Amino acid sequence: MSTDRSDQLRAIRDAIVNLKSSPLYEYRVSNRYFPVIGQGDHYADIMFIGEAPGKNEAETGRPFCGASGRVLDELLKSIDLKREDVYVTNILKDRPPNNRDPLKNEIELYTPFLEQQIEIIQPKVIATLGRFSMEFILRHFGAYQSNQKISQLHGTVVKARTNYGRVSVVPLFHPAAALYNSSQRETLEKDFQVLKQFDAPAQPGTMRLL
Ligand code: URA
Repeated sequence: MSTDRSDQLRAIRDAIVNLKSSPLYEYRVSNRYFPVIGQGDHYADIMFIGEAPGKNEAETGRPFCGASGRVLDELLKSIDLKREDVYVTNILKDRPPNNRDPLKNEIELYTPFLEQQIEIIQPKVIATLGRFSMEFILRHFGAYQSNQKISQLHGTVVKARTNYGRVSVVPLFHPAAALYNSSQRETLEKDFQVLKQFDAPAQPGTMRLL
């Protein structure tokens, strides 16, 4: 791909906006929701991948802007990272009704866009948030051994190869798990420390919606 990263991400946004074949398209349009493509620095070293937009996200078009997003911000702050230093996106780009789990056909439909986002941004570290994201990313990079559970892999570093070089995948629990459970919150705080070993950004990031 030869064009500027922002142009490439805009092309992904346009394709998703018009994704009438999605089973979530009618739900988006009838609720006047937005698709949620991603947000952050297009040159980020660290990409966070969540599950799917919730209500707040679908109403604003911004990932992790509700209660889970506040937890994510606090966790980032605990390791001296800001949102503008990283890139944040999701497996699904549209909100599933009542925040139900993503379905297999939805994951199949939306993840080619995620794969393109990874190829464009070329993160050195991918932090997966929750089991759907972990499973998809580890499978995508051929690093998933069947039946591996997030309860075993959280807070570890899984090395993988991509077309653009090496990537370290860090499976993390979803921030929503920490909302009402203080021991999950402590686990997430501890696991976030793993991200500290990767270099701090050389220069402040640029926050972009897309
Ligand atoms: N949960 C997610 O997985 N993603 C969001 O963007 C918000 C909540």
